[in-house]
Amino acid sequence: VFAHVVRAPEDPILGVTVAYNKDPSPNKLNLGVGAYRTEEGKPLVLNVVRRAEQMLVNDQSRVKEYLPIVGLADFNKLSAKLIFGADSPAIQENRVTTVQCLSGTGSLRVGAEFLARHYHERTIYIPVPTWGNHPKVFTLAGLTVKTYRYYNPATRGLDFEGLLEDLSAAPSRAIVLLHACAHNPTGVDPTLEQWEQIRKLMRSKAMLPFFDSAYQGFASGSLDGDAQSVRMFVADGGECLAAQSYAKNMGLYGERVGALSIEQIEIPVVSVVVGVKERRNSFKDILVLFVRVPRLMYFCHDSQVCKSADVSAKVESQLKLVIRPMYSNPPIHGASIVATILKDSNMYHEWTVELKAMADRIISMRQQLFNALQAKGTPGDWSHIIKQIGMFTFTGLNAEQVAFMTKEYHIYMTSDGRISMAGLSSRTVPHLVDAIHAAVTT
Ligand code: LMR
Repeated sequence: VFAHVVRAPEDPILGVTVAYNKDPSPNKLNLGVGAYRTEEGKPLVLNVVRRAEQMLVNDQSRVKEYLPIVGLADFNKLSAKLIFGADSPAIQENRVTTVQCLSGTGSLRVGAEFLARHYHERTIYIPVPTWGNHPKVFTLAGLTVKTYRYYNPATRGLDFEGLLEDLSAAPSRAIVLLHACAHNPTGVDPTLEQWEQIRKLMRSKAMLPFFDSAYQGFASGSLDGDAQSVRMFVADGGECLAAQSYAKNMGLYGERVGALSIEQIEIPVVSVVVGVKERRNSFKDILVLFVRVPRLMYFCHDSQVCKSADVSAKVESQLKLVIRPMYSNPPIHGASIVATILKDSNMYHEWTVELKAMADRIISMRQQLFNALQAKGTPGDWSHIIKQIGMFTFTGLNAEQVAFMTKEYHIYMTSDGRISMAGLSSRTVPHLVDAIHAAVTT
């Protein structure tokens, strides 16, 4: 009965690893998937992760019961703090609902399913280019996917004008997917001033930001630094969604640990006052009232928190309806590792040191690759390698050149010319440089 089923193509990113695994060459090099490798080309389990796992194993009180549908409560609280900031008013005002999901992809999917059911505008705008899985996740969830310009191949930088034009032309209230930092695949991020302009434009059109935060800590080595774009949007009191992944920054790829946070709007104080008592007062009167009667301010703040908490509880209840038929409840192990590390200040510190070491090694690979191309006199301007940030360099090599490098040099990368800098080492830089040189000169 399945004879009619046609063979589907391999995934454009994970399929690169499949092809790599089949290659018997001793010189093969996998720069496809974004997974960190050591200088020796080996996968890395962070010491702090090993330590957390040991603690979990030694704790005899731990059992293997189901987690709640929304996951581990500690993990959720700590994840929201990590992305929004420890003293985020949004968290204090109970405006954030966080659920544990299956890494970044699962968090995006749950968020998208929720939006398809409960948000009135079903169109999501994604950047061109973007991570190849984005359009599939959103389409399958029932959203209509449209695009906005992001990358300019001519400058190998941000097409900021194109981005602003496309978002200005998009309908009000549309959902907009934003990469929180270390844009995948280009490694090109807006500056803080550009983020501020994007924020203003989106808020003026009541658009809904949906952040994909898969590289917090990887772009700059600083967890707070890499969350600035998200925090800008949260600080203005408007809504936003954030999908977090611990695959890269804690190296928990296969544990599938992530979180979806939905931050809803600050309920305007004035409307609470008007709603409760002062319906006929003008805005000015209400302000005067605030100055004169501090107790009223207190009362309003209190009402706001309660009302927000009520909305959060309703949002959470609907997220449970999305999750339960999809995978019932999330796995316990990875989330327990993350919670153990995030709640212990020593372990947290140890994590930041190890994270910075990974980020620094990637930055050093950029410099080494750039220097080696210069030294070899490879034609072209390669300065984008040291300007782009995060895990990937968007080389500018075309699909034909990529195929040549794979065939002749056993170097594996996605056909759009993206290379994972995290897969490169001082030992393999010369091999890559030889391949790039041959690809652009042959
Ligand atoms: C990547 O872009 O290489 C990673 O995000 C891994 C993946 O799942 O595609």
